[in-house]
Amino acid sequence: MAHIASRLKEVKMEEIQDITSDMIDKLRKLNINSVYQLAVQIPSELAFEISDSSIDIESAARLVGNARKILTENDLLSKEFSTANDMLEKRNEISRYSTGSSNFDTFLDGGFQTQAVTEIAGEFGSGKSQICQTLCAAAITLMENDRLVENATQKPTESIIFIDTENTFKANRIHQIAEQKDLDPEDILKRIYHCNIYSSEQLEVLIDELPKFIEQYNARIVIIDSIISLHRAEFSGRGTLVERQQKLGRMLNKLRRYAEVYNVAVVITNQVVSYSDGTSGLDYMKAAGGNIVAHGSTYRIFLRKSGKNRVATMEDSPCQPYQRVKFAISESGIQDVSSYKTEESESAW
Ligand code: GTP
Ligand code: MG
Repeated sequence: MAHIASRLKEVKMEEIQDITSDMIDKLRKLNINSVYQLAVQIPSELAFEISDSSIDIESAARLVGNARKILTENDLLSKEFSTANDMLEKRNEISRYSTGSSNFDTFLDGGFQTQAVTEIAGEFGSGKSQICQTLCAAAITLMENDRLVENATQKPTESIIFIDTENTFKANRIHQIAEQKDLDPEDILKRIYHCNIYSSEQLEVLIDELPKFIEQYNARIVIIDSIISLHRAEFSGRGTLVERQQKLGRMLNKLRRYAEVYNVAVVITNQVVSYSDGTSGLDYMKAAGGNIVAHGSTYRIFLRKSGKNRVATMEDSPCQPYQRVKFAISESGIQDVSSYKTEESESAW
C-alpha cells in the first residue's frame, strides 16, 4: 500500500512552479514549511496572512494550486480530472482502521477510513468517547503491520493524534482495552499524541497548525473529541450563531483538506440538540451544528442508547446504504453484542 506520509519529505518547496526564495522565506515565517502544508492552505487566508500585500488572493490561489500540482505529478495527490482507473487506484490507497468490533467494522465497510472525515454524534453516555478510545487501541496494531510490510525502518513510527476538548481521554482506559485485546499497551500509549484544549480559539489555532503535527508524528488518524463543545459553550446567544457556524465551517473545511492531502482518517465527535415534532408533540434528537457540520463530514454516524447496549445508525455515507448496528461497551471497549452477555432481548432496537 502506498503511503503518502512516508514520502512526505521527498518534494521540496523549491520545486514548486514559479515560487521565489523570497516567498519561501515568507511562508516559513508563517510556519508553512512543506509542500503539503502549502497545499492545504485556503488562498484567501494565505493572502491575508502574508500581510505585506505582496500577494493577492489570485496569486495565493496559484501558489496553492502549484503546490497541489507538484503533489499530483508525484502521484501524492489525486488529479482534478482523473480516469476511472486512477480513481480506483486512489481508492486502493485508502486505509481502514478497525475498531476491534467486527460488526462495527462491517458497518463502517472495514473501519474508519482515511481521506474522510467521520462524525460520531450522540447524547451523553452514548459511546462517542469509548469508540474513539477503542479505535486508539485497535488501530495502532494495524499501523504497525503496514510499517513491517514496507520495511520502513527510517520512517517515523505511525501514530494517532488525539485532541481532547472535554478532558475525558483516559490513558488507563486505553491501557485496559489494549490488555483485554491482548495487544501491547505500552507500544500503543507511546504512539498516541494527546492534547487537552480549553478554548474555541485554542482549538482553531491547533487545527490551523495540525499539518505540522501530522508530519512530525507521522499521524494516520486524527481524533477530535469533541469538535463542537467549546464553540457551543462560548457562542451560545442567537447573535453569535453566524460567527460560530463560520468558525465551525472553517475548521471542517481544513480537516477535509488534511484528510485528503495527508491520507489520514479524521474522526470527530458531535453533540446533539433536541427538537420537537410540531405535529406529534414528541421530542427528538439530532446532531448539533446544523448544515455546516452535516455537509462538512463524509460519514455521519448517530448513536443512541438501547437498554444496556448502543445502536449506531449510518445517516450519511457516500457509498453505503442507510444501516444500523448494535454494539456494547465493556472492559475491552466497544464490542459485538453477540459476543457479549446481555439480558436484553433483540426486540429492543
Ligand atoms: P459525552 O462525552 O458525555 O457526551 O458521552 P459519550 O458519548 O462520549 O459517552 P462515553 O463514550 O464516555 O461513555 C459511554 C458509556 O461507556 C458510559 O455510559 C459507560 O457506560 C461506558 N464506559 C465509560 N467508561 C468505561 C470504562 O472505563 N469501562 C467500561 N466497562 N465502560 C465504560
Ligand atoms: Mg465523550
